[in-house]
Amino acid sequence: MHHFHYQQDELYCEDVPIREIAGQVGTPFYLYSHATLKRHFLAFDKAFEGVRRLVCFSAKANSNMAILKLFADLGSGLDIVSGGELFRGLKAGFTPDRVVYSGVGKRVDEIDFALEQGILMFNVESLAELELINQRANALGKTASVAIRVNPDVDPKTHPYISTGLKENKFGIDTETALKAYKIAHEMDHVRVEGIDCHIGSQISEAGPFKDAMQNLMALVDLLADSGIKINCLDMGGGLGITYDAETPPQPDEYARAIVETAKARSLKLILEPGRVIVGNAGILVTRVLYRKPGKDKEFVIADAGMNDLLRPSLYKAFHAVQPVQQKDAGIITADLVGPICESGDFLASERDMADVTAGDLLAVMSAGAYAYTMSSNYCSRLKVPEVMVKGSEFLVVRERQQYEDLVRGESIPPFL
Ligand code: LLP
Repeated sequence: MHHFHYQQDELYCEDVPIREIAGQVGTPFYLYSHATLKRHFLAFDKAFEGVRRLVCFSAKANSNMAILKLFADLGSGLDIVSGGELFRGLKAGFTPDRVVYSGVGKRVDEIDFALEQGILMFNVESLAELELINQRANALGKTASVAIRVNPDVDPKTHPYISTGLKENKFGIDTETALKAYKIAHEMDHVRVEGIDCHIGSQISEAGPFKDAMQNLMALVDLLADSGIKINCLDMGGGLGITYDAETPPQPDEYARAIVETAKARSLKLILEPGRVIVGNAGILVTRVLYRKPGKDKEFVIADAGMNDLLRPSLYKAFHAVQPVQQKDAGIITADLVGPICESGDFLASERDMADVTAGDLLAVMSAGAYAYTMSSNYCSRLKVPEVMVKGSEFLVVRERQQYEDLVRGESIPPFL
């Protein structure tokens, strides 16, 4: 459930007509509903009621400062994969002791930054990284809390680009090597074994793969206990899918049921790293139709937003519903909704039945709260679009539209030219 709805044929975000925002802000822009963000976070957190837990919102899904602040205030922790995400998170109000850090390619400066801040846990993805973290902690006079990110080799049955828990994926450490890694970590002077971690993929639409991963991890937890290594927390990563089209992913409580009992039985504190399920359906991309272009084989609707603004359709053939901001009785067309970028892969929707729009009409590209702005780029020197948050009858630009000057900031022409 989200707060984008029609009132007399006009699309609103909470109590604000989207047309009004477009009039003031221009197009394209991302639009987020405060009530939806809040509700999704609280519903997810509540699903795990009764078990010790920390829900760490995954910054990569949406790292706008206003959104991070909202979650920090609701008691969220933060899942990061870079020094930049740590910087943002701290600026937005997360305390370091609520931050978990995953990623296969942590650099020395990033490890140092996280150690100096005193983050909750490093999710370690290789033996080499474990070695480096121990060294850096030694150099800085710190102790690093770690979990080994285990690759449980389960099929999350999602798009291959976003599956991360199969043995052919670059993520985590296989269970056999993980056992070794824990024994090594246990002996290290500047590392403290705190948890066990996995993240098997994203946009997962059934509970089975989570259960399978959990079982593999628990077998390892038991083996470790036999070796005198105690695991205090279980980080199950993120991955719960959402409805973009007709998918029926488990609701947070069904997902929680798959995990909670096992965690409780072993007195493990749970860490969860949800991204998409919290923000995905709390945001949309609003774009204006520039032209209609009837092709020989196909009808094109050309919009002012393109693949640099929303990459998911081009990269994953991802489906995003497209809705008119003003509903008319003009009928339905089948068209490709494309952007202004110089690539044939630049589309927001392909062969889609959609409202029969004309130039100047506004369209809402739905489910664009996750992996949307964060994956946008300046390709073709296009300006990054603003982000707007609505709360009730108010709205505020929470990130300005870039200006041409922003495009060349930091560039210089060398004197030898
Ligand atoms: N934790 C880790 C270690 C992750 O790598 C991810 C996502 C998450 C948590 C959050 O997963 P979520 O709950 O959002 O599924 N760009 C792709 C998605 C990539 C996901 C990467 N990792 C997309 O647009 O579908």
